[in-house]
Amino acid sequence: MPVYLHLAERYTGWRFFVSVPRSDNEVVITVENLGYTYSGASVPALEQVHFAAQKGSFTAIMGPNGSGKTTLIKLLIGLLEPRCGKVEVAGKNPVGAGGEIRRTIGYVPQHETVNTRLPVTTLDVVRMAALCRRRLPAEKLKRNLAAALDMVGLAPEANQRFSTLSGGQKQRALIARALVVDPSILVLDEPFAGVDAASQDAIVSLLHNLAENKAVTVLTVVHDINPLVHFINSVVLLSRKMIAFGSPVEVLTAEHLTEAYGRAVPILVCEDGFLPPMTESSHE
Ligand SMILES: Nc1ncnc2c1ncn2[C@@H]1O[C@H](COP(=O)(O)OP(=O)(O)O)[C@@H](O)[C@H]1O
Ligand SMILES: [Mg+2]
Repeated sequence: MPVYLHLAERYTGWRFFVSVPRSDNEVVITVENLGYTYSGASVPALEQVHFAAQKGSFTAIMGPNGSGKTTLIKLLIGLLEPRCGKVEVAGKNPVGAGGEIRRTIGYVPQHETVNTRLPVTTLDVVRMAALCRRRLPAEKLKRNLAAALDMVGLAPEANQRFSTLSGGQKQRALIARALVVDPSILVLDEPFAGVDAASQDAIVSLLHNLAENKAVTVLTVVHDINPLVHFINSVVLLSRKMIAFGSPVEVLTAEHLTEAYGRAVPILVCEDGFLPPMTESSHE
C-alpha cells in the first residue's frame, strides 16, 4: 500500500518542525537488537529493532501488513518474551518484574471486540480496566472513571449502550479504559481503524495532550501517518526488521518508505512555498 502524505491538505505552517525532541531526556523504553520468531515459523517476525522512547514522547510505529508492528507492541508490554535482544521499560524487563511494569502500561489492542449483544454501557466497558489491572480504592476509581470519560469526550454517553456508539466513540471508550489506571505509558495498536476523520483528529489531539501535558509516553501503531505527523516526536518504521528510527523528518524519506513498502515513493501534496522536509527532491 502506498503511503500518501497529503501534508498541506489538512495542515499548513511549520508546526512539523517544532514538535520534535522533548527536553527532559528521561528514557523510559529501550529496545536493543530485538528479535522474535513465532514457534513453528521459518522466518523471524521481527529482527534487529533498536529504539528508545523518552518520557512524554509520542512515537508512531509504521510498516506494511505483517511487518511486525503488533509483535513489537506485544514485546513492549511483556505479552511476548524476546527471542533475541532486549526490551526495558523503566529500566526493567516487562516480562519479569512481577507484572509491576505491565500495570503502569495502558494498552489498546488491535481488533478489540466487545460482544455487542451484551447489554453493557460505555461506563461498564471503561470500568473493566480497573477490574483486571491495578486495584484502585473505590473513590479513586470513581474519580478516574469520570476523568477518563471526560478526557475522551464521552461523559455524556457514559450510560449509553456501548453497542450503539459510533466506531470513533467505541475506540475512544477503549482508550478511556486504558487510561483509568493512570498509565505512565500508553500503547495503542491501530486505534484509527474504522474511525472517521473527525474522531481521528480528536484521538490524535488527546494522545498529543497526554504526552505533552501529562508526560505520558505514547506509542501508537498507525497505517496512515497523516493525521499525526505534526504531533509525533519519533517514528519507528518496520518491515520485519527496523528500516529506520528517528524524527519524522529523518524517517519519512522516499528511500526509507520505498524500502519498507517495497514500492513507489510517497506522494507529497504541498502548497506553493511550503517546502516539506521529507523528500526535497519531490519538489524539483
Ligand atoms: N501468533 C502467531 N503465530 C505465528 N505467526 C504469527 C503470529 N502472529 C503474527 N504472526 C506472523 O508474524 C508476522 C508479523 O505479524 P504482526 O506483528 O501481526 O504484523 P503487523 O501487526 O505489522 O501486521 C506476520 O507474518 C504474521 O503472520
Ligand atoms: Mg497488527
